[in-house]
Amino acid sequence: MKKYTNIISSPNMKLAAVRDLKKNPEYEYNSVVIPEDFKNYGVNKKYFIRTYGCQGNLRDSEVIAGILRELGYTQTDSVDNADIIILNTCCVRENAEKKVFGEIGTLKSLKQKNPGLLIGVCGCMVQQEHIVDTLLSKYQQVDLIFGTHNIHQLPSLIKDAVLANERVCSVLSNQGDIQEDLPSCRESTYKAWVNIMYGCNKFCTYCIVPYTRGKERSRKSVDILNEIKQLKEMGYKEVTLLGQNVNAYGKDINDLSFAQLMEQVALIGIDRIRFTTSHPWDFSDELIDVIAKYPNIMKHIQLPVQSGDDEILRLMGRRYDSKQYLELVNKIREKIPNVSLTTDIIVGFPNETEEAFNNTLKLCEEVKYDSAFTFIYSPRVGTPAAKMKDNVSMETKKLRFNKLTATIAKYELLKYKTYENKIVKVLVDGPSKKNDEILSGYTEDNKLVNFKGDISKVGSIVNVKITKAKTYTLEGEEVE
Ligand code: SAH
Ligand code: SF4
Ligand code: F3S
Repeated sequence: MKKYTNIISSPNMKLAAVRDLKKNPEYEYNSVVIPEDFKNYGVNKKYFIRTYGCQGNLRDSEVIAGILRELGYTQTDSVDNADIIILNTCCVRENAEKKVFGEIGTLKSLKQKNPGLLIGVCGCMVQQEHIVDTLLSKYQQVDLIFGTHNIHQLPSLIKDAVLANERVCSVLSNQGDIQEDLPSCRESTYKAWVNIMYGCNKFCTYCIVPYTRGKERSRKSVDILNEIKQLKEMGYKEVTLLGQNVNAYGKDINDLSFAQLMEQVALIGIDRIRFTTSHPWDFSDELIDVIAKYPNIMKHIQLPVQSGDDEILRLMGRRYDSKQYLELVNKIREKIPNVSLTTDIIVGFPNETEEAFNNTLKLCEEVKYDSAFTFIYSPRVGTPAAKMKDNVSMETKKLRFNKLTATIAKYELLKYKTYENKIVKVLVDGPSKKNDEILSGYTEDNKLVNFKGDISKVGSIVNVKITKAKTYTLEGEEVE
C-alpha cells in the first residue's frame, strides 16, 4: 500500500453548484499529453474498466480506454489478470454507490496478491467530498481518484502513482471546459455514443448530476458534425446524441438549436439517429417537426415525467405541471403518430401522499408509455431535497413502486402485442444473452427483439417478423 497521498485537487460541492452563465466554455484540443519518459508504460500490461451509470459514463469509459491504449495497455475481461482496474462510478441513487463500495472491497485481496496492481476510481461518485474522504481514509487499496473533469490528465496521474509511488487524487469541481479530440476506443463498430453537450443547469431538487458534471455546455456543432461524418465513413449505422438535457443544446454558445443540429445530423445520412435525454421543458415545436420529417431520426422519445402530481413536480423543481406535460405528449403524438414514448418516474419523493401517487398512476394510464424506468427516491447528500423530511416509509415506497411497475407493464405488453405478425427493422447486436442461437437487436423505436437469424448479419439492419410479444421483449424470425 502506498504511504503518501498527493491531493492535486479535491471536490467541493458548493463550488460545483456555481453557475456563471456569461462565461463560455474553453475548447481544448488534443489535451491528452503523455509524458516523454512514460511513453509505452502500458506495453505488455492490461486494463479492465467497469462502468456504472448512464450513457455519459459509457462514453467516458471509451475515452479512458482510448487513453490507456495510447499508453500501450490492452484490454482484459478479467480483473484477475489486470494491471490497472478503473471503476467509472455513478451516484444518482444510493444503490449505485453501494455496489461500487462492495466491488472496491472485493478488490482488496487482489491488491494484496499483486501489489503492482493500480486501482482507480473515477466518475460521478468521486465528485462528492464525503466519498473521497471515505475512499482516502478507509480504502487504502485505491491508488487513483480522478473526477469527471480530469479524465484527460490520466497519463500523468498514472505516472505520479507509479513513479512517485503515491496515491493520487485529482478532482476538480469547476464548471468544466470541453476537451475535443480525445483518444477513444469505442465499444461497438456500428453503434456510437456522441456527446453533444455536458453538464446540467436544471438542478432538479433530488438530483446530484448538476454537482457532478458541471455547467451545461455545448460542443461546437462543427465538431459534432465532423465526428458523425467520420463515424458514417467508418460504417457506423447508428449514433445516439447524448446530453443530460439535449433540448438546451447550443443555447450557451449561440450555436445551432438542438432541432437545427438534429436536421444537420439527419442530412449526413447515417441510418439511425437517437438522442437522450430530452427534458419536457423546452421541447420545441421545431424539434417535433424535425423528428417527424426525417426517416433516419428514430421515432422514440425518452421524456422523463418524474411524477404526475403538480405539487410533487413543484417540489422537484421540474418547471412544468402535469397539464403542460400532457399537452406536449399530445402535440408530439399528433405530429409523429407512431412515436414510442418512454419515461423516468420517481416514487416516494418527500411529501408524496397517496393522492399524489395516484396522480402519477393516472398520468401513466393516460399516456400509456411504451416503457419506463421507475425508481424509489433516494436522498442525495447536498441536494435541496435531502433537506426535506424523507417522510414516506420504505414499505409504502415499495408498495407504490410495485403498483407503478405493474401499471407500466400492463400498457407495455398491450403496445408490444400490436407488433405481432408485423415486420420490423432490427439493427443486429449479436447472440442474445440467454441463448447463443438467438440473435438480439433493437427496432427503430428501441424495442428489444430476440430472433432466429443469420449471425453474419451482426452490425447490419435486417427485417424481422414478430411472432410473439412479451412484456419487455419481442420474439421473431428474420425474413427477406
Ligand atoms: N437528465 C435526465 C436524467 C438523468 S438521471 C433527465 O432529466 O431526464 C436519470 C433518472 O434517475 C432521472 O430521470 C430520475 O428519474 C432518476 N433519479 C435521479 N435522481 C434520483 C434520486 N435522487 N432518487 C431516485 N431517482 C433519481
Ligand atoms: Fe438531474 Fe434534472 Fe438535470 Fe436531469 S434535468 S440531470 S434530473 S437535474
Ligand atoms: Fe450517474 Fe453521473 Fe450518469 S450520477 S446517471 S453516471 S451523470
